[in-house]
Amino acid sequence: MRRTFVCGNWKMHKTAKEALLLVKQLLIGIDATWYDKVEVAVAPPFVYLFPLSRLLAGTPIGLSAQDVFWEGEGAFTGEVSPVMLKDLECRYCIVGHSERRIYFGEKDKDVNKKVRALISQGITPIVCVGERLEEREAGKVKEVVEGQIKGALDGVEIASPSDIVIAYEPVWAIGTGKVATPEDAQEVHAFIRELLKSMWGKLADEIRILYGGSVKPDNVASLVAQPDIDGALVGGASLKAESFVEIVKNAGGF
Ligand code: PGA
Repeated sequence: MRRTFVCGNWKMHKTAKEALLLVKQLLIGIDATWYDKVEVAVAPPFVYLFPLSRLLAGTPIGLSAQDVFWEGEGAFTGEVSPVMLKDLECRYCIVGHSERRIYFGEKDKDVNKKVRALISQGITPIVCVGERLEEREAGKVKEVVEGQIKGALDGVEIASPSDIVIAYEPVWAIGTGKVATPEDAQEVHAFIRELLKSMWGKLADEIRILYGGSVKPDNVASLVAQPDIDGALVGGASLKAESFVEIVKNAGGF
C-alpha cells in the first residue's frame, strides 16, 4: 500500500518569523489521526531549514529541501550539499523542478547527479517531471516525460521504493489555477509507473508518484482518488496553514 504523501513547496516565500509561524500552525492544525493515512512534509527555502529542523524534530511533519548540489563539499560558492541536508535531518529534497529547469538551466543530467548524491546520503529525492503547454498541444507529453524520467534516473539503483518519489507537474498547471483533469493526470502517472517498472520491476508498484500544479483543497480528493496518483506537491496553497491543512485532510478523505 502506498501511503498518500502531501508536500508543501514554499518556493521563495516567507520571512523567518512567518516560516516558524506557519509550521507551528500546521503542527496544531493537522489532526494527529490523519498521519496514519497521509504523510506530510514541508519544503522551505534553505535559510529556514535549520530552525525548522529544530521545530519539527520528533513531530510527524517531515522536512524537505527545494534543491541541492551534488558534491559533498568544496569550493562551490553559494551551493548546499546533500551532507548538509542530511545533517539537518532533511528526509526529502525536490530536484528538477520546472522553475529550476526554466530559470536556472537545470538539465536531466544535472538532475541525475543530484538524485545519485541524495540517495547516497539516504535523502529521498522528489524528482519533478512535466511537459510545457506547447509540448502537450503537440501531442508530446509521453515523449517529454519519458525523456525526463530516463535522464533523471539513468543508472540509479534503489534498495527500497521509499528511496525515491516522482512528481508529475505539467508546467502549464503550475501557479496558473489550471489543473490537469484527474483522468489526464492518471494517464501520465500510469505511464510513469510503467517506465519505473521497466527500470526497477516490482519495486515500482510501491513508489509514490505525486501530482503537482494548482492543487487546492477542493481538487485534491479527486486527484488522489485516481489509482496511480499517490499525493500532491503543493505550491501556492501550501503558504497558508488553513489551505494546506485542508489539503492534507481532504487527501486522506477525512
Ligand atoms: P502550485 O505549484 O501549486 O502553486 O501550482 C506547484 C509546484 O510548483 O510544485
